[in-house]
Amino acid sequence: MNGALTTAASLYDRVRRVIPPIEWPAFCDDIDGILSLKRERNAVILAHNYQTPEIFHCVADIVGDSLALARKAMSVDAEVIVLAGVHFMAETAKLLNPGKTVLIPDLGAGCSLADSITASDVRLMRQRYPGVPVVTYVNTSATVKAESDICCTSGNALAVVESLGVPRVIMLPDEYLAKNIAAQTKVEIIAWKGHCEVHERFTPADIRELREAYPNVKVLAHPECPPEVVASADFSGSTAAMSDYVGRHKPARVVMMTECSMSDNVAIDHPEVEFVRPCNLCPHMKRITLANIRAALEQNRYIVAIDPEVAERARCAVERMLFL
Ligand code: 13P
Ligand code: SF4
Repeated sequence: MNGALTTAASLYDRVRRVIPPIEWPAFCDDIDGILSLKRERNAVILAHNYQTPEIFHCVADIVGDSLALARKAMSVDAEVIVLAGVHFMAETAKLLNPGKTVLIPDLGAGCSLADSITASDVRLMRQRYPGVPVVTYVNTSATVKAESDICCTSGNALAVVESLGVPRVIMLPDEYLAKNIAAQTKVEIIAWKGHCEVHERFTPADIRELREAYPNVKVLAHPECPPEVVASADFSGSTAAMSDYVGRHKPARVVMMTECSMSDNVAIDHPEVEFVRPCNLCPHMKRITLANIRAALEQNRYIVAIDPEVAERARCAVERMLFL
């Protein structure tokens, strides 16, 4: 997509279905600037599925869900990684690439789940449930990961929980993800009370109204949604799994109960599918823009740094998940 001769002008065809012609000129200068800075600095851009189409389809080298970004971060062949996503994703990339420069374009790109728990909370849970392994969602800080036995993402949470071969696990910090996984396994799951501020707002009433207004619509829900929302959906899975569902089933109509940019990014590859678009914006993901990606590469900011002792323990929890 971003070979040596790629320019913004040649990329518009890719995004014309979701970016109106009147808006496109506003993006071109930054896209050309970023493409040339990537070559100059030997940099790659990793972008999460929630990034806007001009980032996701025009400047990113590697795209995907949290699991894919972590996996692909392990084999990045570049000196600089720019993480177009939120801070915990940039920390994960740094854990897996201690010798590379990892940049996050806006330090305020946080996550309500990551903010819901601290390392001392995890230590207290261990005291309360001695001997019970701690499975930590990747949507957490490196200091929380460092207190954990193993990480998981929405794409592999069930497999991670069942891989431990124990009757009980502590699963932190997303209460709804924990409950949605508990509904699929015999393993007892002790949850925390963190929520995603984007997904907790969807309700079963939203789904009922959508089904009335759009007959035959297929409803896909991210597992960070409340369990009653997941139970009313036709399918639940990670952002990558939702995208795969559309590719495999090609439903005539689909709604994704998740962040808004998902539908835009997936719709580009599926013109035959009608995307119904009630969605919620993630204010953290939306802090990343072409302008601050360009500034990150120009000014080498903001460098992600993790205390080496914390990093060593956090890396163990992430690698244990990746090498499962
Ligand atoms: P995925 O791992 O499914 O991409 O989810 C990450 C996330 O932050 C969802 O809100
Ligand atoms: Fe965090 Fe929710 Fe935003 Fe994902 S969508 S980054 S879980 S606040």
